[in-house]
Formats: sequence, C-alpha cells, structure tokens
Amino acid sequence: MSKSILINEVGLRDGLQIQPKFVPTNGKLEIALGLIDAGIKSFEAASFVSPKAVPQMSDASDLFKSLPKNDNIYYSALLFNQKGYERAVESGAKAIAIALASTEKMNMANIRMSLPDAINNLGRLIKMAKKDGLDARAYISTALGCPYEGNVPTETVINLADKMFELGADKIAIADTIGSGGPALVEEVVGKAAKKFGAENLIVHFHDTRALGLINAWVALKVGVTEFDTSLGGLGGCPFAPGAAGNLATEDLAFMLNDAGYETGIDIGKIREAVLIAERYTGQKLGGRISQWWISQERKKAASAASAAE
Ligand code: COA
Ligand code: ZN
Repeated sequence: MSKSILINEVGLRDGLQIQPKFVPTNGKLEIALGLIDAGIKSFEAASFVSPKAVPQMSDASDLFKSLPKNDNIYYSALLFNQKGYERAVESGAKAIAIALASTEKMNMANIRMSLPDAINNLGRLIKMAKKDGLDARAYISTALGCPYEGNVPTETVINLADKMFELGADKIAIADTIGSGGPALVEEVVGKAAKKFGAENLIVHFHDTRALGLINAWVALKVGVTEFDTSLGGLGGCPFAPGAAGNLATEDLAFMLNDAGYETGIDIGKIREAVLIAERYTGQKLGGRISQWWISQERKKAASAASAAE
C-alpha cells in the first residue's frame, strides 16, 4: 500500500542562509518556481531575522510577496522575535516556524537567549500566531547533538516537545542541525516522540554531515513520520552551529521514497533542473548523493541521442 509523504523544501532558507554569495530575489524565485514545477508543495521559504546576522535573508519580505500564491502550496517563515513575526505577517505568511535549541549554549550562540527565555519567547510567538489564525511549527534544533554541549539526553527533547505542544504548537520538528545523529539515536528519540505525541504531529529535519541522512530518514519513516525537511542539492548549514554541513538533499530523499513506492508527487528529473538553477546563482557545485548517477544517466542519454543522429 503506498503512502503519501510530504517533503518540506528548506533550501531557500536553511540551504541559502550560509551561502556567501547573495542570491538576488529573482534568483530565489526562479529556484522556487523550478521546485514547484518539480512537484514541491511545501516550503520553508525564508527567515525573517536580522539582516546583519544573516544577510542572505535580507530580502525575505520581497521573496514572500513574489512567491506564487496557490492553495496547494504551503509556505512557512522562520522567525525568532516579534519584529520577525510582524515582518512575516506583513509579507503574507500563513505559517510560522519558530526554533529553539535543545541546549543553553546553542541558544545563546544563535538567538542570544537562555533556554528558559527561548521557551517563553516561543510561547509568546505561538500565541500571536494562533490569535491571527496562522499555523505554528516549533523546531527543536540540535536535538540529536549540540556543537557546544555534545550529547543531548532523549528526555530533554521529549520534555521540550511536550512543552511546545502545551504552548500550542501545531507540529514539532526534531532537527539534527549538525548531522550528529545516527539511526539508533533517531529510532530512540523520534520513536519515543512518535509514540508519545503521534508521528503525524512530527517533522524531521536531517543534515547529511556524516552520510547518515538517508538512513536516518528511513528510520523516521519506519516509526511513522510522514513529513521531512530537505534541501535541493544538499545545500545548507547554520552559520551559528560550527560543523553543520548540508541538509539531506531533496533529490536523495525523493528518489529513495519513490523507489520504495511512497507517493511524493516529485519528479526527480525536474529537481535536477532546479539544482542547476541553484548552481548558477550560488556559484557552487551542488547535488545530493545521487548526483554522480544523474550525470552518468545524462551522459548515456546524450551518447545514444548522438548515435541515433549519425
Ligand atoms: N528582522 C530584522 N531586523 C531585526 C530582527 C528581525 N527579525 N530582529 C532584530 N533585528 C535588528 C534590530 O532592528 C537591530 O538593528 P539595529 O542594530 O540596526 O538597531 C539588531 O537586529 C539587533 O536587534 P536586537 O533586538 O538587539 O536583537 P538581538 O541582537 O538580540 O538579535 C536575533 C536577536 C535572534 C533577532 C538575531 O540575532 C538574529 O536574527 N539572528 C539570526 C538567527 C538565525 O537566523 N540563525 C540561523 C537559523 S537557525
Ligand atoms: Zn537545518
């Protein structure tokens, strides 16, 4: 029996935020349109944060306003404070994502708040979102390991998720910000969270730093998770989390899911086209773990087209 899986594309936010070359708004839009053409229906499209802290996100309002609005496409906006919230609402966002880290030190490094302050802050932002009729997604970053404090006890993650649901979050994302988690830890943490809160209320967010993104996703899938954050071409990383590498690539996850008979609605060949657009704007060579295979397929096609033309 096939099952539908939602891929939430975070390339325009998590993917681009660490890129040194500014991608102009029309470039971001071109990438988004390529992804929509490939079947992507859910995006974390930008973060409304201080442009001094993350210059790549300085055009979040312009981008949000220019994205095609369509009831079938869901856009969320990452933010951390009231100013970000107001900018997101003014730009037409219907869903917000608010992140806090599982550890004291990571919260200080990322948003200059202690963990208790970050929880209160998250509660205030969720309350505003609920009052305004917006979806509120709450992210637990560094849930599978912190670059400053190391291992994170499972109980910490479960307790934070519990608190976030109590504060009104619609969904909770368990985020492995630096890619330090492996399948055993995912089974433990995501498995426990799925049992306690219902897998349908969870999102998982993996980085592929140590080549475990896909197996981690497979384990999350097997404990019932149906929503995954990924980034086209494996773009990604957090400027405030040393050691973070790219996100699990959209094409890698979509390929694995399509191959296993899950419904993603995603056309892998068209994701390749969107990756090429992103390469052009970032000036980086991109591509998930299937990119070598992609290239060899293209070479084969070109060779057979050439011999047919002879
Ligand atoms: N949008 C635009 N500008 C913002 C802003 C927002 N959401 N939040 C703060 N600012 C600006 C303020 O206007 C102020 O500008 P000024 O120096 O010109 O007066 C400056 O940023 C500092 O503001 P302050 O309220 O003192 O906040 P802060 O210095 O404590 O910063 C954060 C807190 C979290 C808003 C800021 O550090 C930030 O945006 N960090 C980015 C976090 C991030 O994106 N991490 C990666 C993703 S996980
Ligand atoms: Zn991330």
